[in-house]
Amino acid sequence: MKGSILVTGGAGFIGSHTCLALVEAGYEVSVVDNLRNSHPGAVERVEQLSGQPVRLHVLDLLDVEALEGLFRGSHFDGVIHFAGLKCVSESIDQPLDYWYTNVGATTNLLRAMERHGVGRLVFSSSATVYDPTSALPFREDNPLSPINPYGRSKLTVERILGDLATAGSPTRSISLRYFNPVGAHESGTLGEDPLGTPNNLMPIVMRVAVGRLPYVTVFGDDYPTADGTCVRDYIHVMDVADAHVRALGFLESAEGHTAVNLGTGQGSSVFEVLDACAAAVGRPIAHRVGPRRPGDAPVSFADPSLALKLLGWRAERDLSDMCADSYRWQAANPAGFGSPFPELSSRSNS
Ligand code: UD1
Repeated sequence: MKGSILVTGGAGFIGSHTCLALVEAGYEVSVVDNLRNSHPGAVERVEQLSGQPVRLHVLDLLDVEALEGLFRGSHFDGVIHFAGLKCVSESIDQPLDYWYTNVGATTNLLRAMERHGVGRLVFSSSATVYDPTSALPFREDNPLSPINPYGRSKLTVERILGDLATAGSPTRSISLRYFNPVGAHESGTLGEDPLGTPNNLMPIVMRVAVGRLPYVTVFGDDYPTADGTCVRDYIHVMDVADAHVRALGFLESAEGHTAVNLGTGQGSSVFEVLDACAAAVGRPIAHRVGPRRPGDAPVSFADPSLALKLLGWRAERDLSDMCADSYRWQAANPAGFGSPFPELSSRSNS
């Protein structure tokens, strides 16, 4: 056994895939999750796939006493911190919720880690921390200037981790700045299952593919890109999960705080994603071009070279793998982790 890792938000999309990668790498994994936007079924699937137990603690990191009880009753060698809110538009409408949850919960966690001598933290950050108008590809030393409360809450946590490093805190940390994680475990039994109406492109495309939504609205085709649609650096969630396992290893010897991009370095347009998904699904993905979504940068993709240098990591899977694995998951689990189709239940209630 390599050690015992606490994964906050481990019932969520990236969290659950990372739990699987951790268990397969020989770690003992405990999950803490408040299940606000996640499913206990995801943790069960991790157990089924790995054949190993994963303990789920349903609690909120804002509950200091419950958190203290968890740390007092367990031994952790490190923490991977995914738990948080991640919807940009919601963060603009409800900024206090985002500051309280994303920053407040993290300070609670850091204090519990300090009190109990847990010295390694992998933090789930985002490419949203970059100034969207800065030079491409985004490198870790690009100007940091997020344009919404969600991004600012992520950057604030990075700053806190930097302050701890400056103060000589024993907490060694790494912030992984995700570009656009998509895809699913190749078995098709673990994948992304957002509660309610999804906001992100791939879950919307997949719901169209299985008939839960009628079409994808393409948010603008008049951007200054080759086909007029926005370009993003989509990255397979299992590659992201693998990077977390490597990040834990990196923290065995690294000091202070480090920030590292997780991307492929390759940009794909919305139309390219629709085409790749159509190829995976075997039929076209219905779509209509609509207006731009406020706050969308035309192009975003990573320079992933620091991850290769520090973690020995590079993305192994391409866009067609991402679409094929997403569809395998969605087709086998059209209602996600066992939830009824919202469309069907509202029809049967009427
Ligand atoms: C978004 C967030 C980002 C967050 C990430 C979490 C914004 C501006 N950014 O990234 O901060 O970290 O989600 O996963 O919200 N698109 C469509 N139609 C749709 C949905 C999306 O055309 O119905 C387009 C978008 O314009 C964008 C691309 O698809 O160009 C990807 O969108 P999305 O999956 O929401 O990711 P980001 O906006 O890159």
